[in-house]
Amino acid sequence: MTNMITILTGAGISAESGLGTFRDEGGLWAQHRIEDVATPEGFMRDPELVHGFYNARRAQAADAVPNAAHVALAKLEAGFDGEVLIVTQNVDGLHEAAGSQNVLHMHGQLDSALCAACERRWPAPLVMQPSDACPHCEAKATRPDIVWFGEMPYGMHSIEDALARTTLFASIGTSGNVYPAAGFVAQARQLGCPTIELNMEASQGGSLFDTRRLGPASEVVPAWVEELLSA
Ligand code: OAD
Repeated sequence: MTNMITILTGAGISAESGLGTFRDEGGLWAQHRIEDVATPEGFMRDPELVHGFYNARRAQAADAVPNAAHVALAKLEAGFDGEVLIVTQNVDGLHEAAGSQNVLHMHGQLDSALCAACERRWPAPLVMQPSDACPHCEAKATRPDIVWFGEMPYGMHSIEDALARTTLFASIGTSGNVYPAAGFVAQARQLGCPTIELNMEASQGGSLFDTRRLGPASEVVPAWVEELLSA
């Protein structure tokens, strides 16, 4: 069997790059209502508000640089004898900026725009607004290419397929509050795959992991990667 590591990442891996998490004290969901800025209904009610929220996040992400945890995961992909897949819930591009190539953005990407009418995508401008027309069909139905609550995450078939082949499942910097991502550890376990959590604190489903490393991602992730590459 080919070695394959599937790594689920969440907002915690980008925290030390200056991007806010969602549920930590003072996090994004303490400042904004999910119903207003992260649901299709919220976008229908007030597209200007929703674009404003993601414009601010896009600007912040554009200025952010990868930290030691992103860099270590890119090094793992380059040096590991087998496949490494990053399944990220993050909408920033810091994994790619660090050099990771096999990255699946299950919750979408800030730097992508989507037409709700024709479903085509194009690179998002730094500032999006409700009056923007789709460059393909010209409908004024452009939206951030972000998966909102109530929508189906991207790449679920590929993720299911990867979990079935995975020989090590790791979760980094996620609180385990949002499904289906929060259920991947249980799926991996059911398939007999070893599981490890690297996070600042134990997550919701923390007891499902075989092993746990607690601490800042910029410290625990590089140390873990060194161990894997020297094994
Ligand atoms: P959360 O904000 O829910 O969780 C972040 C996790 O990172 C927490 O468990 C923190 O303890 C941990 N953490 C914080 N700083 C860290 C650091 N420096 N090193 C390591 N860990 C750290 O974010 P997510 O779990 O990513 O979805 O949230 C999942 C989804 O909920 C997001 O993708 C987003 C949100 O609603 C949508 O918007 C659809």
